[in-house]
Amino acid sequence: MDELNRIEELRKQLHEYNYKYYVLNQPTISDQEFDFLMHELIDLESRHPEFADPNSPSNRVGSDLNQEFIHVKHKYPMLSLANTYNEQDVADFYNSVKRGLKGEDFDICCEMKYDGLSISLTYINGKLVRGVTRGDGVNGDDVTANVKTIRCIPLVLHGQEYPSEFEIRGEILLPWNEFERLNRQREASEEPLFANPRNAASGTLKSQNSKLVANRHLDSYLYYLLGDNLPCDGHYENLMEAQRWGFKISKGMKKVKTLQEIYDFIEYWDSERKNLPVATDGIVLKVNSIRQQNALGYTAKSPRWAIAYKYKAERACTPLQEVTFQVGRTGAITPVANMQAVQLAGTTVKRATLNNEDFIRSFDLHIGDYVYVEKGGEIIPKIVGVDVTKRSFDAKPIDFITHCPECGSELIRIDGESAHYCPNDSGCPPQIKGRIEHFISRKAMNIDSLGPETVDEYYRRGLIKNFADLYDIHVQDINGFDGKKEKSAVKIVKGIADSKNVPFERLVYALGIRFVGETSAKLLARHFKNIDSLANASMEDLQQIAGVGEVMAGSVIGYFHNPVNMEIVNRLRSYGLKMQLSGEQVDTSSNILSGKSIVISGVFKYHSRDEYKQIIESNGGKNVGSISGKTSFILAGDNMGPSKLEKAGRLGVDIVSEDEFLKMI
Ligand code: IVH
Repeated sequence: MDELNRIEELRKQLHEYNYKYYVLNQPTISDQEFDFLMHELIDLESRHPEFADPNSPSNRVGSDLNQEFIHVKHKYPMLSLANTYNEQDVADFYNSVKRGLKGEDFDICCEMKYDGLSISLTYINGKLVRGVTRGDGVNGDDVTANVKTIRCIPLVLHGQEYPSEFEIRGEILLPWNEFERLNRQREASEEPLFANPRNAASGTLKSQNSKLVANRHLDSYLYYLLGDNLPCDGHYENLMEAQRWGFKISKGMKKVKTLQEIYDFIEYWDSERKNLPVATDGIVLKVNSIRQQNALGYTAKSPRWAIAYKYKAERACTPLQEVTFQVGRTGAITPVANMQAVQLAGTTVKRATLNNEDFIRSFDLHIGDYVYVEKGGEIIPKIVGVDVTKRSFDAKPIDFITHCPECGSELIRIDGESAHYCPNDSGCPPQIKGRIEHFISRKAMNIDSLGPETVDEYYRRGLIKNFADLYDIHVQDINGFDGKKEKSAVKIVKGIADSKNVPFERLVYALGIRFVGETSAKLLARHFKNIDSLANASMEDLQQIAGVGEVMAGSVIGYFHNPVNMEIVNRLRSYGLKMQLSGEQVDTSSNILSGKSIVISGVFKYHSRDEYKQIIESNGGKNVGSISGKTSFILAGDNMGPSKLEKAGRLGVDIVSEDEFLKMI
């Protein structure tokens, strides 16, 4: 293949992987493989400047800019580090530093490479003034309100010895134990699990709701001090000072001189890092003296004075014995690889998800294939490749099933979606049970006297076929089931009866309408106020609501047009469940903002932006995007952007705080 073709192929692949990683949060190859492809591309591009393309994936390091936050330009761009994977690369780095410093003596600071998301904190006169994400390296999101909830980040510094203005950079992480707690919670409420703590930390830090952020207990380690008046020339010494000002700095930092000491550090932490409370994926080597760092300088993307050494994700190779297919609550089919059991990173692995048909095709998987399984920062192992050289000549490719393994219905695949679905939602057991389990879950009706096993038992015994049947259960129906005493039967029936008081918005979520999550259910409930208006809403009515798109609107319509669902809804009504917002919630609407054009700006404490938009509309006002002479006022959360502030001042537009606004309505 000629080199231009290869460049184009690599660009296409990397764009796709990048999208899967950054947009879908569903990486399909390991970071290491991604980096190898990227290296190959950068190498080819540097040898062929005539094929340069401003949109090549090599020109960006991935952006995590979020539209909802105010974008801030970094004073010093946030560069990334060149990655290396073996001793030879480390030796090359060491020798190039040596050459660059023309024989001068130098120290290398070795430290952990944290696997979270980077943050830049600015302190002026000892106070935290701003926290900005990396974004695209040049501009980041101002997430100060969220950063302030992270307990280990000092808001006010200790002592007096710090420079009057400086920046400190580091990593925001969700500790392993918090990650597991969060995923357990999500499992219970049937929300999709986070694949690893990095995704969870990133989702958390970019939330518009800083209260939620505070509850997630993020952690942070700081590893880089920048500014004009730093106390020392040494990076290590500066961080030791920063530690005295109250920062939690990178653990286990060590200053060394020789290559052998670097190798020893790498080897020591390869196993020791497993005892750290947060995820790490390598180590970072930095020339210690800032004067020497400046002398070595930067390439376009990374410093010449530092590199990252990445530990290999633990990987195993094992035969794929069988593919089974699971049916979820919504009817989505998930293929699962059943492999010969193999030890990986301290646990036995025998199952891994194969996601969907395209995933299987992308590896051209055959039964009996030796597959590579990795468990990097992930809890759930994933298949990252196949050793085709070990495939036997008569191996059979995997056929995706055409019919539901549970109820035999023919599967459908909706255009543009990757999943297959079983359409038999009213007759397919895992879908029926899944919907009942969703209905009773904590964030829905919260019937904690029931659990998945009880639902399964009642379903098997023919006592329940849908969640409306729950309200028809009497103590005598279940007394003595599985040897349970009357007391427990009474408790179960009481738990079900108590759920009749659950607010309308949670009932909307509990119905399990496809694509209607907890937040969307709230939006729908608050907008339509009662079940009849919601059930009769048109596509246009639904899409009017900010946050409701075509897919969700179509799904809501489909749900209420199904007579089976309407019968269930009507039965729930007859049992006395809440079919409208409570008086208090309805009363929040008024005409108090009638004729007012309101701009929303900044980060809020009590409600999300979408919720404020709803509140403005339900009180007769209009939410507009940009400030003009006609703007009535700005509803301002924390960290409103300086240009907006200036414009408001110039045009004489009032600024109303979140608390003032809530009092007003
Ligand atoms: S120093 C100019 N030190 O790795 C050098 N980075 O690819 C600035 N990281 O974006 C970074 N641990 O998010 C540095 N001890 C450490 C680190 C570290 C993790 C991350 C950081 C950066 C990426 C570099």
